[in-house]
Amino acid sequence: MLKVDNITVAYGKAKALHGVTLTVEQGEMVTLLGSNGAGKSTLLKTISGLLKPRQGGISFLGQQINNLPPHKIVELGVVQAPEGREVFPSLSVRDNLRMGAFTRRDEKAVARDLQFVFDLFPRLAERRDQAAGTLSGGEAQMLAIARALLADPKLLMLDEPSLGLAPLVREDIFHVVQQIYQERRVTILLVEQNAKWALGVASRAYIMENGRIVMEDLGSKLAENEHVQRAYLGY
Ligand SMILES: Nc1ncnc2c1ncn2[C@@H]1O[C@H](COP(=O)(O)OP(=O)(O)OP(=O)(O)O)[C@@H](O)[C@H]1O
Ligand SMILES: [Mg+2]
Repeated sequence: MLKVDNITVAYGKAKALHGVTLTVEQGEMVTLLGSNGAGKSTLLKTISGLLKPRQGGISFLGQQINNLPPHKIVELGVVQAPEGREVFPSLSVRDNLRMGAFTRRDEKAVARDLQFVFDLFPRLAERRDQAAGTLSGGEAQMLAIARALLADPKLLMLDEPSLGLAPLVREDIFHVVQQIYQERRVTILLVEQNAKWALGVASRAYIMENGRIVMEDLGSKLAENEHVQRAYLGY
């Protein structure tokens, strides 16, 4: 479904990704692990079209996308949930969600998806008329994920959805990501610091270090790997 082929990405002269190759097949949940500064967010931003690779290419469903502007990539179904702080603060929860669906014309399907995310996040349903800027951090993160779902993603990319959240809210987010995967059958590319959970739910996982992919395997296999256990699972 998604093929990232040997891409090199740099900020000015500083290279952040050195020949990264990664694939995501339809129906997979693929997770990307790596320490701070490894290049995970850079990779997601490049797939989203916010950064352009210096070398290599990216294709989605057989179409080259690395030269497309970000909104075209979203229209093809590659949607990255923004960070929780990137919601529109003065708009209500409901209007933020509607913004997520602004390119879609099928009103019935949009209404159905709105209901789906309100079922998924009852806290957002209760706060549908509240200004998004007054949500708690965890609620704003839920809104960001919900807004991405309203864009009807074929591939949903999440960059550390549980970052900075209290343990119970983090559990909520984990649960919801699994529900999205299982009930909506959305293909997911997930960056997540909680390696134990991320490897447990992943179909496959990649480990990134210093801008390079250094390991790739089934989540369960990586969880048994000694280097992974020491570096990411704290054993
Ligand atoms: N806008 C930028 N300008 C210059 N360098 C950048 C920029 N954004 C990121 N970098 C650098 O690129 C490298 C990769 O950063 P990136 O944000 O992709 O890492 P990450 O794996 O997402 O880390 P984290 O786990 O901390 O989020 C880092 O060395 C970072 O300092
Ligand atoms: Mg990051």
